[in-house]
Amino acid sequence: CGIVGYIGQREAYPIIIKGLHRLEYRGYDSAGIALLDKELKVYKKAGKVSNLEDFVKDVSVKGTVGMGHTRWATHGAPSDRNSHPHTSGDRKLTIIHNGIIENYSVIKEALLSKGHVFKSDTDTEVLIHLVEDIQNETGLDVEEAVRIALNRVIGAYAIVIMSQDDPDLLIAARKGSPLVIGVGKGEYFIASDATPIVEYTKNVIYLNDNEIAYIRREDLLIKNIDNTIQVPYIQKLELQLEMLEKGGYDHFMMKEIYEQPRSIRDCLRGRIYPESGIVQLGGIKEYAEKLKNIDRIIIVACGTSWHAGLVGEYLIEEYARVPVEVEYASEFRYRNPIISEKDLVIAISQSGETADTMAAIELAKEKGATIFGVCNVVGASIPRASHAGVYTHAGPEIGVASTKAFTAQVTALTLMAFYIAQQRGAITQGKLVEYLTELNEIPDLVERALKSNEQIKEIAAKFKDSNNCLFLGRGSSFPVALEGALKLKEISYIHAEGYPAAEMKHGPIALIDEDMPVVFIATKHSSYEKVVSNIQEVKARGGRVIAIVTEGDTTVRDMAEYVIEIPQTGEAFVPLLATIPLQLLSYHIAVMRGCNVDQPRNLAKSVTVE
Ligand code: G6P
Repeated sequence: CGIVGYIGQREAYPIIIKGLHRLEYRGYDSAGIALLDKELKVYKKAGKVSNLEDFVKDVSVKGTVGMGHTRWATHGAPSDRNSHPHTSGDRKLTIIHNGIIENYSVIKEALLSKGHVFKSDTDTEVLIHLVEDIQNETGLDVEEAVRIALNRVIGAYAIVIMSQDDPDLLIAARKGSPLVIGVGKGEYFIASDATPIVEYTKNVIYLNDNEIAYIRREDLLIKNIDNTIQVPYIQKLELQLEMLEKGGYDHFMMKEIYEQPRSIRDCLRGRIYPESGIVQLGGIKEYAEKLKNIDRIIIVACGTSWHAGLVGEYLIEEYARVPVEVEYASEFRYRNPIISEKDLVIAISQSGETADTMAAIELAKEKGATIFGVCNVVGASIPRASHAGVYTHAGPEIGVASTKAFTAQVTALTLMAFYIAQQRGAITQGKLVEYLTELNEIPDLVERALKSNEQIKEIAAKFKDSNNCLFLGRGSSFPVALEGALKLKEISYIHAEGYPAAEMKHGPIALIDEDMPVVFIATKHSSYEKVVSNIQEVKARGGRVIAIVTEGDTTVRDMAEYVIEIPQTGEAFVPLLATIPLQLLSYHIAVMRGCNVDQPRNLAKSVTVE
C-alpha cells in the first residue's frame, strides 16, 4: 500500500493526490484522504485514485495538514468502507496504515465489550479505536496514547495518525514497513517511499523500526517506542523526478523495457575491469575472505526475484563451484531450515521491503549465517538488515510487472558469481578476461535485441486470443522460461506455464494442440540439439512454436512458425538477452487485449505483508 502525508503552509490536497498517483503502483484497490482544516474531513473510495478525485469534486478539500492512502487489500474486501483512512468512533482521530496488526481480534473483542462500534472489517480501525480508548481511560494526549497503543500491538505497520484535538500534528510510526520523512522549510512530507517527496525536497529521514515521529510545521521529534528521544539522520535523495515519469512511452513497462541497456550498464559500472580480468564489488569486499570458507549459498526471494535467483544458481555453481539452493522466502522461513555459520544467504528483492524475504533473512541471521542483499531500492529494509550487498542500480521501477529490475538482478548475480569464483580461485584470470569482455558488451546487445520489437508486435497479434501458453528452456534458460510465463500471466491474464524443456514429456505435452502456443528458448549453446528435439516433439503433436534463437540460426527457422533472433553471446549471458523478447511479447499481447499493463488486477509492486 502507499502512504503520503503533508503538514506545512501549502494546501495539502494537491500534494497528497499527486503523491497517491506516484504511489499507485504499490496498490490500487482503493484510495482515501483525510484533511484537517477547522475540522477533520475524510473521503475514501474503492478503486483507483482517479475515482477518489471524482468523488471529492464537489466538496471542500481545504487544509494544510493531511494524509492519503492507496490500498492493496489484506483484511477486508476492497470496498469504500474498508478503505483508509479509518476513524475512531466520533471521528476525533484518524489513521492510515500499511501492514498487519496480528493481535487485532483480541483487542477488538475487548473494545467491543466496552461499547466500541466498528465500521469496517479492518485491523487498522481496531488500532485507532485502541488509541481513543487509551485516551478515554487515561486522559493522556494523543502523542502518548499512540505510543502506548503501539506497545500493545503485535505485527507490522507503517502508520500516520491525525487528531482533531491537536490539528497541527502528524504522528507517524514504523515497524517492518517503510516510511520516509521529507524535510522542507516550515513543512514536512511523509510517504511510504520517496517518490511523492522528491519533487519538493531532497532532504529525507528514513524512520527506523520502532520509531515514532511527531511532526509539526516547525518541529520534528523522533522517539523510540520505549520513549527515548532519537537523533534524526538527514540523508540526500539521489532520485531524479524524470525517473518517475513515462518520458514519451505509453506505459512505464515499455519505458522500463527500453531502459535496460542503460540499467545493465549502470549495474556493471565501476565493477568490472575486462582488460585485467578483475571484478570489484565494493559492497561485499569486507566479506571477501569469508567467501573462501563458505560451504553453501542459499538464495531467498519471491516472485520475479526468485527467478533471478534460479539464474544465479546456475551461474554460481558453474563458475564459483559452490553448492547453491534457491528458496521461496515464504517457504524457507516456516520450515525450520538447517542453516550454519558457514552458509551465505543471498536475499534478492527489487523493493527491499518484501515481508517474507525480510523475515527469511532475520531467521538466517539469528542462526549465524552471513547475509548479502541484492536490492534495487537504496536504503530499503532488506539492504539495511543485510551484512553486505550489491545494489542493482536499475533506477525506480514503476510498472508492477518487473522488467529492468530482473535483468539488473541477473547482472548483479553474474557479477557475484565471478567475484566469488575469483576469491575462491575457481576461475583463471584469463577466463575472467574473456567473460568480462563479453559481459561488457551485453548492454549493446540488449539494444540490438530490442530492435525485434515490431516483429514481436506482429507475432503478438497472432497469439493474443490464446487462453494458454507454454514456455520452455533448458539450463539457465529454464528460469527465463519461468519468468516469461509469469510476465504473460501477470499482465495479460493468459494462463501460462514455464517448464524445463525436457520435463514437457512428463505432463504438459498432454496439453499441446493448435490452440496452445509454445515458446522455446533455443539458443546455440550446450543443450541446443536437445532443445531442437523437444521442438520436434511439439511439432509432431500439432503445436505452434515460437522460438527465441541465436542470430543466423537456420535449423530452428525451418521448424518453428516464428523465430525471434537475439545476438550471439556466451552461455552465461543468454538470460540477459533471451528475456528481452519475452518481455516485449507479453507487453504487446496485454496491450492488444486491452489490459492495464502497468497496474494489473490484484497485484502490487511491493508486498509488505506475508
Ligand atoms: C511482487 C511484485 C513482483 C516481485 C515480487 C517480489 O509480487 O509484483 O514483481 O517480483 O513482489 O518483490 P521484490 O521487491 O522482493 O523483488
